[in-house]
Amino acid sequence: MDRIDAASHTRGESLFVDDMPQPAGMLYASVFFSPVMHGNIQRLCLQDARSVKGVVAVLTWENIPGENQIGSIIQDEELLAQRKVHYIGQPVAVVVAESTEIARKAAKMISIEIEELPAVTDPKEAFEKGCIIDTPRTFVLGDVDSMWQKCDLVLEGTCDTGGQEHVYLETQRARATPLEGNNIRIYSSTQSPSAVQHHAAKILGLASHNIEVEVKRLGGGFGGKEDQATPWACIAALVARVTQRPVELVLQRADDMKMTGKRHPYKSDFKIGATKEGIIIAYEVKHYQNSGATADLSTAVLERTMFHSTNCYYIPHVRIFGVCCRTNLPSNTAFRGFGAPQGMFAIESALTKVAEKLHLPREEIQVKNLLAERKEFPYGQRAEHCSIRTVWESAETNYQFQKIRKQVLHFNQSHFETKKGLAVMPVCFGISFTTTYMNQASALVHIYTDGSVSISTGGVEMGQGLITNITTIAATALGINPGRIKVECTNTTRIANMSPSAASSTTLLNGNALLIAINQILDRLKTLLAQELSVFEKEKISIMNEKVFVDAHDTGWAWNQLIHAAHQKRICLSAHGFFATPKIYFDKTKEKGRPFAYHVYGAAIVEITLDCLRGSYDIDSVKIVHDLGRPLSKIVDRAQIEGGLAQGLGWMALEDLRFNEKGQLLSRDLATYKVPDAHFMPDNIEIEFLQNEKGTLGPYGSKAVGEPPFMYGIGVFFAIRDAMRAFRPENDFNFTSPLIPERILLQLYPEYIKQTLDKNKNLSG
Ligand code: MTE
Ligand code: HPA
Ligand code: MOS
Repeated sequence: MDRIDAASHTRGESLFVDDMPQPAGMLYASVFFSPVMHGNIQRLCLQDARSVKGVVAVLTWENIPGENQIGSIIQDEELLAQRKVHYIGQPVAVVVAESTEIARKAAKMISIEIEELPAVTDPKEAFEKGCIIDTPRTFVLGDVDSMWQKCDLVLEGTCDTGGQEHVYLETQRARATPLEGNNIRIYSSTQSPSAVQHHAAKILGLASHNIEVEVKRLGGGFGGKEDQATPWACIAALVARVTQRPVELVLQRADDMKMTGKRHPYKSDFKIGATKEGIIIAYEVKHYQNSGATADLSTAVLERTMFHSTNCYYIPHVRIFGVCCRTNLPSNTAFRGFGAPQGMFAIESALTKVAEKLHLPREEIQVKNLLAERKEFPYGQRAEHCSIRTVWESAETNYQFQKIRKQVLHFNQSHFETKKGLAVMPVCFGISFTTTYMNQASALVHIYTDGSVSISTGGVEMGQGLITNITTIAATALGINPGRIKVECTNTTRIANMSPSAASSTTLLNGNALLIAINQILDRLKTLLAQELSVFEKEKISIMNEKVFVDAHDTGWAWNQLIHAAHQKRICLSAHGFFATPKIYFDKTKEKGRPFAYHVYGAAIVEITLDCLRGSYDIDSVKIVHDLGRPLSKIVDRAQIEGGLAQGLGWMALEDLRFNEKGQLLSRDLATYKVPDAHFMPDNIEIEFLQNEKGTLGPYGSKAVGEPPFMYGIGVFFAIRDAMRAFRPENDFNFTSPLIPERILLQLYPEYIKQTLDKNKNLSG
């Protein structure tokens, strides 16, 4: 099936938060935020802003009737700063006016006096000062300490990954309307309607049932709206409550970039031990996560880093240490991959060091250490239906990367200032929320008497194609035309206690809940049909193409007729379904368990050409083998693979967040922060679908596809490095990303660059 919203998106007819019809008397809010990284608030001067014509109110924490707290896992985040500020961009006050322009202008007239305190931006420095969130964690498999002396080769190193801005097209926004009594309705661009509901109720001192949250769709979330859509919705709710008027809050791009958290930068130290043949025996890694100012989702992100620290390799002796380090930056948050990319980057770096030391191509080390069936991950789960070997072999035969490797060598021998580089990036990604209780979902199905169907689930459409998937599942299960099915917007009054749409699990969780609901209705319908048709075994009855069959025999009953008859017989045509992923658990005291329902496997071959005079490069091709089970919609899955790849390539090689020494974000708009465009993307992307339906719990054999392809992008780092080594085999390169042209040049010509830098001390960065 094609994407259901393709036409309305293309015509600009799809509705987003601020496309909803404007209620009369709507107000507009703008947020005043901390201009410094850390300090005590001494005086906040609101008078000038209040006196601007058209300003209706200026609110601070003192106007909050409930609890000034929006922390989700750890209660450490104020909605509006009370006495202290912890990062530039932290909301302090809200200006409410008759127009957006007035609100934004008046917000600029607020002044604040702050006694500045020392600030930390580096995770290791924060760790040394004891600024950590929660307790550090350690996963252990085997015994690394006793193995080092048995290895032929032990190497140590450090790696460093940068943050990443989400750049969802639709910036953070919300609209709130006061209703009768204490009630408030919120339209939010959130991946987690229930989180918004819960926190808005808490902020206002109301019950959850007083708050209705509705989400039509998001102009992208990518994790940035899993937790961090909440403050803006809560601010809108607060304004609606205080002013008793509808209000809208929309962040401008630059404010969104300054105020909201990003992917967590990490610093990781590793030690790796191998035999001289390249079999990895022991691996130790210490991850220092730059969490930013508050906990947000950081502890869960760190946990997923640890779960993915050996990627798709089996290493018998492993010790993984991880710690969330509190710094004075906006609180970093979920971003596609949710910590796994940082964990995988470290093992890929360590493995690269082994390959380089042994003078072997990286892929030879990779293939020797691939995970196999029943092998144990450091967190206790064993690999089931492990398809990484099949993926690898399929990549080898279909794309002939041995041959590509030879071509690269040949090219590099015959070219001096241009070098080609090649890297394979295999991926093993665990499917489920790592927080076990979150793996639950509900669905509500109504069939109307005309045979049309209304479906609600707890899933949010954010561009990933959820509505298309849900429609396909419903049409297949009911045996009717997709045109009869409408997937409703997501609303907390229809579906309660939703988990966020995240962890690539939305279709799995909500699709299965939907099937449970549909099967209840189908069972009732078949009971009726069994009576009407005098069939004893209900199982023989099926509905296909809107017709009722007994075995393969067409009974002449049509869908419409069936629904009409059921209604006449007073059979309930609605159902609620609830699904909870079975057989998953994790014991944090032992750090062992079975956290994932299954794993998704795939691999990408990345080829680049490096201009060694300029440090610039072209990504020639990315060739992917991806195990997606039996896709619900191939076009949706392909788009997820391409989109994930684009973001992964951008993270590794392009997107460069820069802060100055005062902690101000310099790359705060799309002129200074570069994201992948058509030119940056590979000239050639090939994707081969491996249709291995084993192991998945996804509806109709489908597999989660949202996040895993992001990590294919990691390959570009090692492909560039491969080309750099071809040019300067004697240089020792670092594992610092993003590997932008500037960093490449600095490493290709360290002596020359040093001279130039010494001559021109003003040249920064
Ligand atoms: N694709 C689009 N177009 N927009 C998005 O915001 N988010 C990604 C991924 N693909 C996203 C996307 C992230 S971070 C996740 S976790 C999954 O989609 C969430 O959706 P799913 O659970 O349905 O895969
Ligand atoms: N992914 C996304 N969000 C989450 C997770 C996860 O694994 N765990 C808790 N929140
Ligand atoms: Mo995705 S980072 O789990 O929203």
